[in-house]
Amino acid sequence: MSELRATDEASWWRQAVVYQIYPRSFADANGDGIGDLRGITSRVDHLRDLGVDAVWLSPFYPSALADGGYDVDDHRDVDPKIGTLAEFDDMVAALKAAGIRLIVDIVPNHTSNRHVWFREALAAAPGSPARDRYVFRRGEGPDGERPPSDWIANFGGSAWEPVGDGQWYLHMFAPEQPDLNWQNPEVRADFLETLRFWADRGVDGFRVDVAHGLAKDLTPPLPSQAELDAEDLPHGMHRLEDRDEVHEIYEEWREVFDSYDPPRTAVAEAWVDSAPRRARYASPEGLGQAFNFDLLLAAWDAAEFREVIEENLALSRTSGTSSTWVFSNHDVVRHATRYALPAGTDLKAWLRSDGTDPKPDAEAGLRRARAATLLALALPGSTYVYQGEELGLPEVADLPPDVLQDPTWVRSGGTRKGRDGCRVPLPWTATGPSLGFGPGPAHLPQPAGFAELSVERQRADEESTLAFYTRALAERRRLQTAESLEWAPDAPADVVRFSRPGGWISITNFGTDPVPLPAGRVVVASAPLPDGQLPGDTTAWLEPEA
Ligand code: NOJ
Ligand code: CA
Repeated sequence: MSELRATDEASWWRQAVVYQIYPRSFADANGDGIGDLRGITSRVDHLRDLGVDAVWLSPFYPSALADGGYDVDDHRDVDPKIGTLAEFDDMVAALKAAGIRLIVDIVPNHTSNRHVWFREALAAAPGSPARDRYVFRRGEGPDGERPPSDWIANFGGSAWEPVGDGQWYLHMFAPEQPDLNWQNPEVRADFLETLRFWADRGVDGFRVDVAHGLAKDLTPPLPSQAELDAEDLPHGMHRLEDRDEVHEIYEEWREVFDSYDPPRTAVAEAWVDSAPRRARYASPEGLGQAFNFDLLLAAWDAAEFREVIEENLALSRTSGTSSTWVFSNHDVVRHATRYALPAGTDLKAWLRSDGTDPKPDAEAGLRRARAATLLALALPGSTYVYQGEELGLPEVADLPPDVLQDPTWVRSGGTRKGRDGCRVPLPWTATGPSLGFGPGPAHLPQPAGFAELSVERQRADEESTLAFYTRALAERRRLQTAESLEWAPDAPADVVRFSRPGGWISITNFGTDPVPLPAGRVVVASAPLPDGQLPGDTTAWLEPEA
């Protein structure tokens, strides 16, 4: 068990609280409706007061926003719509001055179709070096008029797009996101340069998009989608995902990270079903850490939480890393809403119903979300907080179709609503054209209920979710020590209870009946504790009486 402290320079990330900023929805300084870097700089106080250790900034690179910025035109520049490199430097300086580190998103699986490489590829002949940076294949049929395979892209529709000369390019996401060929040495070298570019600008770490997708086995004949699906065994070698050789790429990246002092960090976004295979992305020879989405996917259930926690702590011990905990991000229904729905609700169908069928129990959802967050904050490892969850924001499920931006909506022929509902701009004030997001209207409309949830309102209320997060983060900072945990041997089935070095305890009641509180001084609780008991859907931390 590592005895490293979160405060060690080189291992700050091991038990950090990392706040995710989706920049286009955080704060808009110039009033064009899109959040920008100056907006972030102007709100650093909020992050400092909240007490986060680091920010993870989702893509801010030049982009036509075909996929919310994950369609990158140039990995080494700032989108002119949201800022400049000089404003990026100002933002880094403001964060540093507030003691906050910065992790940036790196998108290596694909570029946008506007990237200079892709334009060169289209202008070049089949079989040329320019096309070899991407995945081009000849189509089926005499003139290549049919796609090379029947693969389905993540947002729906074919994963292949024709370019008019019998060749097709692969895009595992939107057609505007052509997949790169990671067997091409130029692609590899270019990303090393990108990592250095941002590390040299003071970036502390990287969040690696689709980390499991870079290595692909495209040896003909290409399997059918049905064969691919059948191949998708937890421990097998899928043709397109989580291949063993992907780790060679990250070993090269690690050399770059370790050439800096302190070493740069990374966290893999690797949607890999098998937890042991996911752990490989988190090895110290590779990216060092990987998102663990198991709690995000778990039902509100004590046994499920306990199992996920045990498994992930054991895995991070064997791979020498620390675990990560996350409930919400820019890709999923916000957890205050997920927990407001009956267990097992099909979230895609629910979004199609404009969030009415079934109707969420917002109060129960927020209560559980707060309890879940406080539990995760007590665990060894790092916790990711998605912008707006500190306000208890719900998913905005009733956005009208004409404002939707997520490619999922169009690509699925209007059958899947997508992720816009968790990307609605933040309410900073209770009044104003976009509730303080900016001086003008926001790029996605905010619902009326956001005014009451604004930072301004919650700052004035000691019982608010914002006040609760602020207290919890401050106490965590004070209490956090070595990365170990001891389960209470006699906790009832509905209760998750453990202690951490120093003897402080976290206890969560997943049931409905109140349970007695352990001895000690209550440090923070996710809800009031009537009669000195722990009510249902509540977490409390206690420390030994002095
Ligand atoms: C994962 C990102 O989180 C998501 O927003 C994006 O659409 C895909 N990767 C493709 O880059
Ligand atoms: Ca703006």
